[in-house]
Amino acid sequence: APAPASTFFIFGASGDLTKRLLLPSLYNLAHEGVLVDDFAIVGVDHVAQSEEDYRAFLTDAVKELPGSLDTEGETWCWLISRIFYVSGDFEDPATYGRIRERLDQRNAQTGNAVFYLAVAPRFFATISEQLGAAGLLKETEDAFRHIVVEKPFGSDMASAKALNRRLLAVADERQIYRIDHFLGKETVQNMMALRFGNGIFEPIWSKEYIDHVQITAAETVTVEQRGGFYDATGALRDMVPNHMFQLLAMTAMEPPNSFDADAVRSEKTKVIEAIRHMRPSEAIGAAVRGQYRAGFVNGEAVKDYRDEKDVDPDSRTETYVALKCFVDSWRWNGVPFYVRTGKALAVRRTEIAIQFKRAPGVLFRHLPTALKPNLMVIHVQPDEGVSLRFAAKVPGRKVKLSDVEMSFKYADYFKAAPSTGYETLIYDCLCGDPTLFQRADTIEAGWEAVEPILEAVGGGENEVQYYSAGSSGPAMSDVMLAQDGFQWLPLERDRPR
Ligand code: BG6
Repeated sequence: APAPASTFFIFGASGDLTKRLLLPSLYNLAHEGVLVDDFAIVGVDHVAQSEEDYRAFLTDAVKELPGSLDTEGETWCWLISRIFYVSGDFEDPATYGRIRERLDQRNAQTGNAVFYLAVAPRFFATISEQLGAAGLLKETEDAFRHIVVEKPFGSDMASAKALNRRLLAVADERQIYRIDHFLGKETVQNMMALRFGNGIFEPIWSKEYIDHVQITAAETVTVEQRGGFYDATGALRDMVPNHMFQLLAMTAMEPPNSFDADAVRSEKTKVIEAIRHMRPSEAIGAAVRGQYRAGFVNGEAVKDYRDEKDVDPDSRTETYVALKCFVDSWRWNGVPFYVRTGKALAVRRTEIAIQFKRAPGVLFRHLPTALKPNLMVIHVQPDEGVSLRFAAKVPGRKVKLSDVEMSFKYADYFKAAPSTGYETLIYDCLCGDPTLFQRADTIEAGWEAVEPILEAVGGGENEVQYYSAGSSGPAMSDVMLAQDGFQWLPLERDRPR
C-alpha cells in the first residue's frame, strides 16, 4: 500500500548519508510505487544554494554511486521534481521559520511531516528543540510529525540518557524513530519468521539443547574516510550496544503476543536488560579489544590503523571487539553468547551461529574423532540464508560419519527487490509503524550492559591487542573461546557455508 502523503525534511541535505543511502532508498520506494504524488522532500542545510542547484548536486552525487541510479529515467524525474531546499543554520530559529513556510506553502493536502536528522549527533537535541520551539512537532488529528535519528545515540549511558531526556522534552516517544539499520535487513526480520513461524525450532531453542551462540559482524572495510569519528568511538560503541545487541535480542527474545510495535520491542528490550553486567575487573577475560595493523585484505595492501587519516598515531581505539555475554533468564541460564565484530578482517560476513549440544557418542564411540555438534547458521549477509549442519553416514561397508549441510539461500527462492535496508525503515516511519525502531529504554539497556567494559578500558585495564589486516582478529579472541572449549567459526574466505 502507498505510504500516506507527507513532507520529508532531510537535515544534512548535502551529507554523506543523504547521498549514499537516503536518496537511493527514496528512489527505490518511488520506483516501487509506494510514494504518492503529494509526497515531497525538502533538504535543509547551511549551504546557500538554489533549489535548482540542489537538484543538480543530488543528480551528480547519485551518478557517482556504485550501481548508480538511472538519472535519465522516469523515476528520477518524478522524484527530483518533488525535491526542494531550505538553507539555514541548524541553530538559527529563522531556519525553522523558513521550514514552516515551506510546509505551509506546499501544504494543500497534508500537514504530515518527517524530520530526518542526517547530521552529526551533536545536532540531534538542538535541532529537535528548535523544531519543538517552532511548534513544528505539534501533531493534529490529521498531521503526524515524526523525528528520525540515526545512531550513535550517545556515547555512553549518561550521554544516551541525556539525549533521550532532551528529545522526550519536545516530542512523545511514539514520534521518535531511532534507526538501527540492521533491523531493515531482511535476514534480521526473518529471525521472527524462522523462530516463531515454524514448529520445529522453538522447542529446542533453549539452554537444554543449545550449547552456545556466536554472533559475528566481520567487515573487510577499514575506517576509510571516517577516521575522526571512528577514533573517538571504536568498534565497541559503534557496533555493540546497537547492531550486535539487536541481533542478540532477535536470537534470544521470547515470542511476543502480537506484531504490535510495543509487544515486539518490549520482548527485545527484556533480553538486552537481562544481559549480565560484568564487573569492570571481569571485562579482562570477557572482552577482547583489537586494533588492525598493516596487512592485506583481499589482496589489497592495508596500512596500520594508526596511520589512517584523522587517527591519533598513538591511538588505543579498538577496531575489533569480542565479548562473552550471558542472558540471565530461565531460557538462557548458563548459555554463553559470544559476540565479535571488526574491520579489516579476512571476509565480510555477518552471521548468527547456534551450536547445539552434542549427541551422546555411545553408538559411535569407536570413531576416531568425536561427533561434531549440530550447527545452525543464519547468514545475515552476504549470501543470505540459513544452513544446518548434521552428521550422515559415509556410504561404504565401514561405519564412518561425515558432516553434511542443508542449506537455504534466499537467492534460490526469492527475487530480491533492490534494497539498502533503509527502504523498509523509511516506509515504516511514513506509515507510523515504529516496530523496527529502538525505544529509549532499549538504547539505555544496551549502554548499561557495555558500561563496565567502557570503564575497564578507561581505567587502562583492557589493553588493545593487535591483529593483521586480513586476518580473523586478535589471537586473544580465540583464546577467550578456547578457555571455554569452543572455537569461533572460521573467517576464511572459502569456508563452506
Ligand atoms: C554502521 C557502523 O552503523 O554499520 C559502521 O557505523 C559499519 O562502522 C556499518 O561499517 C555496517 O553496516 P552494514 O550494513 O554494512 O553491515
